[in-house]
Amino acid sequence: MGSQVMPREQLGICAEGNLHSVYLMFNAIDGVEAQLRPSIANVAQYIYELTDQYADSAFNGFVGIGANFWDTFYPDSRPALLKPFPAMNEGNRDAPAMEYDIFVHIRCDRYDILHLVANEINQMFEDLVELVDEERGFRFMDNRDLTGFVDGTENPKGRHRQQVALVGSEDPEFTSGSYVHVQKYKHNLSKWHRLPLKKQEDIYGRTKVDDIEYESEDKPLTSHTKRVNLKDEQGNSLEILRQSMPYGSVKEQGLVFISACSTPEHFEKMLRSMVHGDAHGNHDHLMLFTKALTGSSFFVPSLDFLTQFDD
Ligand code: HEM
Repeated sequence: MGSQVMPREQLGICAEGNLHSVYLMFNAIDGVEAQLRPSIANVAQYIYELTDQYADSAFNGFVGIGANFWDTFYPDSRPALLKPFPAMNEGNRDAPAMEYDIFVHIRCDRYDILHLVANEINQMFEDLVELVDEERGFRFMDNRDLTGFVDGTENPKGRHRQQVALVGSEDPEFTSGSYVHVQKYKHNLSKWHRLPLKKQEDIYGRTKVDDIEYESEDKPLTSHTKRVNLKDEQGNSLEILRQSMPYGSVKEQGLVFISACSTPEHFEKMLRSMVHGDAHGNHDHLMLFTKALTGSSFFVPSLDFLTQFDD
């Protein structure tokens, strides 16, 4: 960007983990784009300000725009790589697409603040959108997925989070934005808990209690970390920033998987490797114990992109 000022990112993209989260999926009412644009700008600005106001509780969040809705909403320009969710299926491994127009993602260490803000945001959108799905995430034990394994250990750290998650100067209008994919996974925990510990560990390629990575040669080709640990032709690791959290109740529970990246390609390649596997058909055995119910693709523009439409 040279001496230019970088657009401000929406702070929830790269924020560290929290105790609680709320995910709101909205569809726009037909024909309200002109009123919805400033309303979205206001919501994103409001979330940005609350990040400061509730800094003690680590409040943060972002607003994403659905890939299929983008052109209706911002017809004059489009993030270069934005495309619908890459739905795929093989055997009984299914990654279906379920697109939404708007995704509001808020997180905080105080559940009461989150509840209040979620209601306020819903009010700010009143008559312009329909709330089609809502989920609440929570930190489980010491950052574990409900299968009992620590989730997020190999995530990028520090400044590297921004480098992985945010678009750079290659797409100037969309610098500091992020390609975000969301999948709601429903776990089959009774099936999972019947597996002996060693078999569970083999499925992740990591130990359960201590969260220690297996040596590369000890990782089964069907293990989750083997399937998603990919490199490009130059040997560089393909990275994403995961912001997933467990969700649900006794009746239905699992993981809201969220990937943020400077490109949608990394997520797509990892998902393909999980579902279709390698040339020898080694697919991800984690998928025998969990089922993706949704799959959505969003772009989360910079705050400065959104607030040009706030009049
Ligand atoms: C690693 C859980 C889906 C990408 C991990 C780890 C766990 C985990 C426990 C190991 C610890 C860590 O480094 O975070 C899950 C669960 C999923 C899920 C429960 C769904 C139910 C996905 C999906 C993708 C993905 C859909 C991408 C398409 C990754 C990546 C790593 C990872 C990139 C780090 C691998 C490494 O560098 O070792 N996941 N994951 N995960 N997962 Fe997942």
